[in-house]
Amino acid sequence: MDWDRMIREELHPLVPYPPGLREDQVQERCGSATIVKLSSNEHPAGPFPSAIAAITAELGCLNRYPEGSSEALRAALAARHDVPVDQVVVGAGSNELLRLVGQVVLRPGDEVVYAWPSFVVYPMVANIFGATHVKVPLAEGEVHDLEAMLGAITERTRIVFLCNPNNPTGTIVTREALESFLKRVPDHVLLVLDEAYFEFATDPAYPDGLDYFDGERPLVVLRTFSKIYSLAGLRVGYGFAPARLVRAIDCVREPFNVSTVSQVAALASLDDEAEVLRRREENQEQKTYLYSGFDRLGISWVPSEANFVYIKTERPVEVFEALLAEGVIVRDFGGAPALRVTVGTPEESRRVVEAFEAVVTRLGSV
Ligand SMILES: Cc1ncc(COP(=O)(O)O)c(C=O)c1O
Repeated sequence: MDWDRMIREELHPLVPYPPGLREDQVQERCGSATIVKLSSNEHPAGPFPSAIAAITAELGCLNRYPEGSSEALRAALAARHDVPVDQVVVGAGSNELLRLVGQVVLRPGDEVVYAWPSFVVYPMVANIFGATHVKVPLAEGEVHDLEAMLGAITERTRIVFLCNPNNPTGTIVTREALESFLKRVPDHVLLVLDEAYFEFATDPAYPDGLDYFDGERPLVVLRTFSKIYSLAGLRVGYGFAPARLVRAIDCVREPFNVSTVSQVAALASLDDEAEVLRRREENQEQKTYLYSGFDRLGISWVPSEANFVYIKTERPVEVFEALLAEGVIVRDFGGAPALRVTVGTPEESRRVVEAFEAVVTRLGSV
């Protein structure tokens, strides 16, 4: 069988998303009793109690298909953000929504512009639909180079992805910069603002993408329940998009794309704003602790508005392996000179600093 003929050519160069090492794989390698997994920007505290109660209450009804359009969740999100419900979309993680947006607008040969390094799914979305991806390197300070991104836009550009805060650097596009960017992005371009880490940001200059959403202009704002709400395992994200785009997405998504437990858990989580605030504050405290530990060890880090810290190192492979030997899993970028550490519990932060200390002692520097 000639599978290369069978499978679409634009998929041939693609590789599956690298999920990172699991705790059990690392345990086998290093023998450490407790493994600290800080490679996927998950929240350490687990789902909100209200979400667990909602999931439990639903278990006996799982013989039924979910509500197909996530109606109650969409209505709650619409009310909370004062957006008409036909401009709200819910997906199996915001990851699914990134792909669905690509599926409804991208044609082969279109161009997709995004910063680099940024979220690895953007090039995947471009590739899946035969679009050309245009990577614009981050500027000094690991921030989006919006001027260069504007310069990269052509007649063929269909999507610009903007990750704010940016994964993996944790840096932000400020309100001022976003406003001037929005004024200059031509209207044949769909701007997708990926705000997966929205709830962690505390910098007063950090903009709320929804302030610029009017249901008309070509703007999509995406958020998720995977991060501060700790529901990564359930796969539920949401977005705001012009109604015509939401309708197109509704036509191509799976009929029951978001499971019943995902819908009820997300809905229940929305009521606990106090817990979101508590988690944001704790995340800040942990970052401050990590920064001071890194400073003491001479490690170069980038100030983050998210729940992870980007560390610059000329020896990423050695440092990654040495951290694994200490039982700490971080994210590497295939040899690029950086590593990303997710913010965990206070105990996990302590383990991270101790592990880096051991690595500095062993390797001389990081
Ligand atoms: C920037 C960014 N966007 C989107 C996602 C996807 O999140 P999910 O599909 O879990 O909602 C992630 C996950 O790590 C992310 O880092």
